[in-house]
Amino acid sequence: MTAPETPDTARTFTTIGVVGLGTMGAGIAEVFARHGYAVVGVEKDDEGVARGRRHLEASTGRAVAREKLTQSEADELLGRITFSTSLKDLAEADLVVEAVVESMEAKVAIFRDLDAIVAADAILATNTSSLSVTELSTATSAPGRVVGIHFFNPAPVQRLVEVVRTVVTEPGVLDDVQALLGSLGKSPVVCGDKAGFIANTLLFGYLNHAASMFEQRYASREDIDAAMRFGCGYPMGPLALLDLIGLDTAYEILETMYRQGRDRLHAPTPILKQMVTAGLLGRKTGRGFYTYE
Ligand code: CAA
Repeated sequence: MTAPETPDTARTFTTIGVVGLGTMGAGIAEVFARHGYAVVGVEKDDEGVARGRRHLEASTGRAVAREKLTQSEADELLGRITFSTSLKDLAEADLVVEAVVESMEAKVAIFRDLDAIVAADAILATNTSSLSVTELSTATSAPGRVVGIHFFNPAPVQRLVEVVRTVVTEPGVLDDVQALLGSLGKSPVVCGDKAGFIANTLLFGYLNHAASMFEQRYASREDIDAAMRFGCGYPMGPLALLDLIGLDTAYEILETMYRQGRDRLHAPTPILKQMVTAGLLGRKTGRGFYTYE
């Protein structure tokens, strides 16, 4: 692949920065690189970079095994990604997507730094699932260029991306981000800045209820999951999906939505907290509701 197909936008996107190369950040880096963009992935230390690289290699390896990519396309994709442990290497980025842990403090510190590093017309985005994009935008000198760009897990596979507008996001920024996401083959939807946005607000009440059913020994994990897969056509059952999302992430999302909306559907089921405390975080630690090799 040569240069990316230029989306019909007022600005040109050439270099994309991704801060945080965990499950989501590495997936986001992969999506942009796959579509021809130069990506600079930033992690806080060498270990984080190595973990991000492993994620990327495993995911592209899976895509090659499933004949979604040829080996040479996968090599070119990986060749478009450079890694760094310094935010200063994002000075040339036209868009930076922050995808670090769901901590307002950590995100604010990054946005404050990025604000002084990137060009005045660069867009700053967060992949947060539940924190306030508006609050984050106020850590910058130009809140109008801050937007939420919320990918779904696994980012290279799921078509949906939620574009979150704050009351001050410039309309041109929203238009350009949507056109850019379209150039990645994604289907963007736009929504306001409320914890959970569209999909998680609907999804997490259901996931929480499934965990509660399991906790009450109402049905086995296999039967809860089978019911939703074979009865409702979901690609995976709710407990397997919680393991994919990560129980720590799921707990944080529920907790934030509950604090903001006070809807008891989102009050985290106790077993989630217990499993997080015990280190049973799902696929990433090898054990959650299920055990993984
Ligand atoms: N690039 C391109 N394609 C890839 C790929 C990659 N890196 N990795 C995998 N794929 C493709 C595979 O080739 C396969 O395509 P086909 O079906 O056409 O063969 C497809 O993606 C599925 O991959 P797998 O076969 O490896 O896995 P699977 O069939 O068991 O599906 C799954 C796994 C995609 C996760 C599916 O079960 C699924 O969609 N589950 C639901 C996931 C979901 O609900 N995600 C949202 C979570 S909530 C969230 O993310 C929000 C938040 O804030 C936490």
